[in-house]
Formats: sequence, C-alpha cells, structure tokens
Amino acid sequence: MKPLPLYTTEHGKAYLADALDFMPTMPDSSVSLIFTSPPYALHFKKEYGNVNQGDYIAWFLKFARHYHRLLRDDGSFVLDIGGAWKPGQPTRSLYHFELLIALCREVGFHLAQEFFWYNPGKLPSPAEWVTVRKIRVKDAVECVWWLSKTPWPKANNQQVLNEYSPDMKRLLEKGYRAKVRPSGHIITKKFKDRGGSIPSNIFICGNNDANGHYMERCNAEGIKPHPARFPHQLPSFFVRFLTDPGDLVLDPFAGSNTTGQVCEQESRKWIAIERDEGYLKASQFRFEPDAPAMVAGGPIEGHEREEGPIREEGGSTPVV
Ligand SMILES: C[S@@+](CC[C@H](N)C(=O)[O-])C[C@H]1O[C@@H](n2cnc3c(N)ncnc32)[C@H](O)[C@@H]1O
Repeated sequence: MKPLPLYTTEHGKAYLADALDFMPTMPDSSVSLIFTSPPYALHFKKEYGNVNQGDYIAWFLKFARHYHRLLRDDGSFVLDIGGAWKPGQPTRSLYHFELLIALCREVGFHLAQEFFWYNPGKLPSPAEWVTVRKIRVKDAVECVWWLSKTPWPKANNQQVLNEYSPDMKRLLEKGYRAKVRPSGHIITKKFKDRGGSIPSNIFICGNNDANGHYMERCNAEGIKPHPARFPHQLPSFFVRFLTDPGDLVLDPFAGSNTTGQVCEQESRKWIAIERDEGYLKASQFRFEPDAPAMVAGGPIEGHEREEGPIREEGGSTPVV
C-alpha cells in the first residue's frame, strides 16, 4: 500500500519511505524524468550511509530496474555520481564507469550523453595524496550520466539556451563574413541571432547559496542541513531540457528535495522519496511562501554547497 505523503505542494508529493519499497506502488511508464544523486561508493561513509565499492553495482541495479519500468518511452534518467579513490592507494575506483556500463548492458538504458560538473570550490582531497605527498591534484569533477529508455528521449536544447557571450553579441551586431574555420567547420551567412547559445555538456558551479532560504531556515531552527545537496542548477537544467510543464519528475534519493523545489518553480509534477525523516521534514523549508525563486541556469556559475567539499566523496586516506 502506498504511504501518505509527508507533505504536498501544488505540483508535488514528498514521501518518507525506502525507495525500493515505494517504487513498486507506482505505475509503469508514468515518469518523464528521474533526476537523482544517490549515496556514492565511499570509503569514508556519510551520515546517511554509503555502500562499499564492491557491492555498489548490485545494490544500485535493484533501484535502476524500477527506474526503467517507471519511465515513459521518451523518458530520461539522469544520475549525478561522484568518483572515489581506492582504499589506501592513490588510484581511482572504476565503480561509476562500471555502473554506467551495467545500466546500459544489464538494465537496457541508452547513454544519451555524458555531462560533467566542475566544482571549482572543492577543497584538495584526499589530503594525503594531494596536499601532503603532492602526487595527485584536486578531484573537482563529478559525472552526470544522461540515460534514456529508448534512443529517442524527449529533449529540446532551445529550452536551455545560454545568454550569448559579449564576443558573440558583438559579432551578431557587426555581422560575420561567411568562411571555413581552420577546424573545417563552415560558418555560413545564415549566422544570426537565435536567441542564445547552445550549452555544452559541462557545468561550472561556484558557491553562491550558502545563505539561501533553506540554509537560513535550518540555522534558525537549529537543524543540521543536508550534508550533500547538489546545486539547484543541475536539476533545473535537465528539468527544462528534458521535460515540459505538467510532466512528472521523480527523485528517489531526494535528500533536501532540491529537485522538488526546481520542479515546483518550473510547473512540473514531482515525487520525492527520502528515507530519512529529518532531511525530508527540513526540506519543507524550500516550499515556504517567502522562499525566493531560484535563478534558472544552464552550464553555470553558482551553487549551494556551503562548506567546501560538501560531498567529499573521494577520501580514501585520513586527512592528515
Ligand atoms: C546524496 S543525498 C541526495 C541529496 C539531494 N540531491 C539534495 O540536493 O539534497 C542521497 C540521499 O538518499 C537517501 N537514501 C539512501 N538510500 C535510500 C533509499 N533506499 N530510499 C530513499 N532514500 C534513500 C539518503 O538518506 C540521502 O539523503
């Protein structure tokens, strides 16, 4: 039986549940987008629990088989996942690449496109390899795998155009002589203002929401904020790129429900599933009437992880 939502909004419902128990209550082919960030396979565990690298693929595929069933044929599953270091040595785990391959080969997803999120604000870590022995550099990029149920998911890059750069604006004003670029690309006379530039597959996010409404309200109520929120620009980009108003978006590892807040603002229906009551209760702050609207963004500047390496997912050695 489906539990009652912990709270509802105009467009969404937030459920306190284990996603593996909840998803079987949802109908097949009912979801347009699953956007989520699960606990990563970390050596040093977060407070909400992490699965070991060796067990990770089998653990995650149990969720992924539900995602595949729940998605419409034109639906997408977008997974924000960080890498990890192998315990005790300065080499990287392959788990998130192995997961990608398993999602395609074993569950039947297609890799529509890979994206990367570069967080310039990450602190150097693991300390032993980066700052003590100085044999590695900062790990500041997370993978965002855009997967689809068929090779033809609904998508429209016109819904996520970036503002033109000053150089581009100047060119548009002064005009451009048609020519073949050194790369071989032919720039034709059709070169004209198309309302903005098509984004690339990399997000560059700073750190600009430490004082956002959710944080302020957590602080005011003496509640510890969720320790691994992603920047709202990530779900915002994919929600606008891959769905239309009225479509249903699911975040099955909802945490502080950043995805739900974005969907509410973009008039998408949403379902959030989170098994930790404290996180889900605090996520209601995001929907208070005086919570300011978040600024939509493409590959981007600005994010809301407040304290340097909020998802310090790579630590395989103690910080020295
Ligand atoms: C990385 S956090 C997600 C943070 C979220 N993206 C945000 O911006 O706040 C992963 C969340 O998944 C939750 N979680 C882990 N296993 C779960 C499960 N089986 N069902 C539902 N939630 C789960 C954890 O409690 C944690 O809050």
